[in-house]
Amino acid sequence: MNNKEPLLDGLGRVHTNLRVSVTDRCNIRCFYCMPNVDVKFKRRDQLLTFEEIQRFVRIVAERGVNKLRITGGEPLVRSELPSLIRQLSDTPGIDDIALTTNGMLLAEQASALREAGLNRVNISLDTLDEETFQRISRRPGVDQTIAGIDAALEVGFDLVRLNAIAIRNLTEGELVPLARFARERGLELRFIEFMPLDAEQHWQSDQVLSGNEIRETIQREVGELTAAPRPDPSQPAVDYQYVDGGGTIGFINPVSEPFCGTCNRLRITADGKVRNCLFSTDDYDVLALMRDGADDREILDLVQRCLAAKKPGHGIDSDDFERPERAMYQIGG
Ligand code: 5AD
Ligand code: SF4
Repeated sequence: MNNKEPLLDGLGRVHTNLRVSVTDRCNIRCFYCMPNVDVKFKRRDQLLTFEEIQRFVRIVAERGVNKLRITGGEPLVRSELPSLIRQLSDTPGIDDIALTTNGMLLAEQASALREAGLNRVNISLDTLDEETFQRISRRPGVDQTIAGIDAALEVGFDLVRLNAIAIRNLTEGELVPLARFARERGLELRFIEFMPLDAEQHWQSDQVLSGNEIRETIQREVGELTAAPRPDPSQPAVDYQYVDGGGTIGFINPVSEPFCGTCNRLRITADGKVRNCLFSTDDYDVLALMRDGADDREILDLVQRCLAAKKPGHGIDSDDFERPERAMYQIGG
């Protein structure tokens, strides 16, 4: 740590967690995130370079950011990602680096990522059924994702976790098979509610399959659950343990039970915009600032202005909720 002022927002929330998107590109096209066709990707020169990302991380790490999550798009399609992970893990103050991936390229990259200092991996898997996978992701991929999961387990990350988005009238039949699959492999599983961040803007509140409904199904069909201890009060997930010792299952319920009050997360998009929230309607252009030759102080000022504007919550269920212009792949999950 350091003795400088931490990154506080107007409500006193301390920001220690940075999510870094490294690309808006992806090798599949999940409907809750991306358009299927005609995706307007950024050009390479519109993205932060590794040096720029590292500089930004160094500046916020000096103010207490100690945890990073690498996101996308699909982060593993950014070339040379392990070398970025290496630079970031060597940054003073950074003591935990996690990655969110669809897993499809993990079989090739898991060991290089581990060697570079990546601590934890979340792999998105909404279904074990290829037909359902293709309805969601509009590309094939179950076997390749499972190969990625196995590779991640083999190289021995500190934690390998599965993330599943649950969607009403689509994935009810996947809940129990996913829970059994995770139990068999000793993987943590987290169900995430569908948020209004799909590029095609088809989200409807009645498509949200709530964490509580899922938990009831798992309890009935898989095993009795009991609330798990909560080591980190700012974690978005509410975790449960199987009473028979069969592992942990968690629920991220941003829609039915918003957790904005304890948010400690700051984001930077692949094209170098700082954001105080997934749902914020403004962002702060750090890429332009850096390329204009700004010094560290000016960059920190931008971050502090961004945080000062952070709202108490996303307000998805309020009448005047305004969707962000950017879809999930342009923000970073
Ligand atoms: N709602 C909830 N989660 C989403 N993700 C992508 N789009 C959405 C959405 N609209 C998740 C992915 C992955 C992470 C990057 O974000 O499934 O786990
Ligand atoms: Fe790709 Fe992840 Fe978006 Fe799916 S959710 S399209 S895997 S970036």
